[in-house]
Amino acid sequence: HTTPKPFPNDFLWGASTSAYQVEGASESHGKGPSIQDLHHPADLSDFSVASDHYHHVEEDVALMKELGLKAYRFSISWSRIFPKGKGEINPEGVAFYHTLIDRLVASGIEPVVTLYHFDLPLALYENGGWSNRETIDAFAQYAKTLFQEYGDKVKYWLTINEQNVMINHPAAMNPGKTPTNKELYQQNHHMLLAGAIATNLCHELVPEGKIGPAPNIIAVYPKTCKPEDVVAADNWEAIRNWLYLDVAVKGVYNPIAWAYMEEKELVPRMEAGDMDLLASAKPDFLGVNYYATATVSAAKNDGHDRAPRNGDQQTMVGEEGVYRAETNDLLETTEFGWQIDSVGLRTTLRRVYDRYHLPILITENGIGARDALEDDGTVHDAYRVDYLRRHFEQARLAFSDGVDLIGYCPWAFMDLVSTHQGYQKRYGFVYIDRQEKDLKTLQRVKKDSFAWYQNVIATNGSRM
Ligand code: BG6
Repeated sequence: HTTPKPFPNDFLWGASTSAYQVEGASESHGKGPSIQDLHHPADLSDFSVASDHYHHVEEDVALMKELGLKAYRFSISWSRIFPKGKGEINPEGVAFYHTLIDRLVASGIEPVVTLYHFDLPLALYENGGWSNRETIDAFAQYAKTLFQEYGDKVKYWLTINEQNVMINHPAAMNPGKTPTNKELYQQNHHMLLAGAIATNLCHELVPEGKIGPAPNIIAVYPKTCKPEDVVAADNWEAIRNWLYLDVAVKGVYNPIAWAYMEEKELVPRMEAGDMDLLASAKPDFLGVNYYATATVSAAKNDGHDRAPRNGDQQTMVGEEGVYRAETNDLLETTEFGWQIDSVGLRTTLRRVYDRYHLPILITENGIGARDALEDDGTVHDAYRVDYLRRHFEQARLAFSDGVDLIGYCPWAFMDLVSTHQGYQKRYGFVYIDRQEKDLKTLQRVKKDSFAWYQNVIATNGSRM
């Protein structure tokens, strides 16, 4: 396309966060602990205050309105609603999300709610977590409660954030012992069932409700055009991407992923009716979290297939004897070692849409950086503007190619505690005045990217 199509008028320009990364008040106001409250390296920020969103809701939503957001994607903290994961409800937690949602709606911002973003209630974790089928029932009770409470105000829902990351990178989700692969694929099956139940409940309980999964989906490149590298890339895609979406959308396990699971003895135990349940759930749209593409080659099985390249880019790890992680030498990297591939976003969107024909909402994409607050109270994040501009352009091209792209929620609305690098790695349009351990003023400061995004939204993406 030499002349890309304009974004549709109802395009959901948004921004994302997740509960444990912004809220704070992690063990007060009736909230029970989640696994995240135990997981944080000693030298990094913990989640007890985070961005103190819990005590800044009014101000934060006012900033969202000023930015012009059409949508705000956030997650509800399961253990703020059910401190022990099930059973007794915390009314203050329920009221907190009413306040947030009411303010969003009054500001003309569409709430997009993730049911579960990495923060499993600790009480459930201690009772076996996702290895225990009782966690599926607890999730169903929790999802039902949210649909009944907020269903008349919230139309867009996401079931589980980055289930594939939780399976492929389990360390951050398991404050205790990291489960074996066998156990992880069993947990995966249970989460898929939980997602299916939530999808069906949403359709029963929420008038005009729309719900979908939110995996981390990234296109993969073969390192060369050597046919064996292409097979390795196809395997990566089946095992890392399609396994999750094929079950969510079509209700079937991907055959290539299944063959891998059989070979590695990872096939989960199933109960009668599981596959029927999976087949019954029909998502309305797909959330896609995208940071950068992956590159792989045929496995060499020499002990180095797994080696992560370029620092710690979380989505890019090989598996010994299955596919080998490669560096894509043609791409730039961020100061945190994550590769930057805006064109890869177009490829990803085209592949996902071509395969599933469901509307797509980009639920995460952004750049983590060490932003600096200047003495005059400004934050110059030109690299973020550049990163997002290039990705927005590619999203627009994907839309012009025929992809039914309904919105774009960059990560993140405000600075927050990163999953892997604490507070030093910032993603927001809004700077939060705090450091790793020093809470400073917690003041909200608009970065340069704020004004830029404001203009993008005001012109519906025609001026970037
Ligand atoms: C996604 C998660 O994996 O990537 C977010 O859904 C996370 O919770 C984001 O913050 C960026 O990763 P990180 O490790 O830089 O925080």
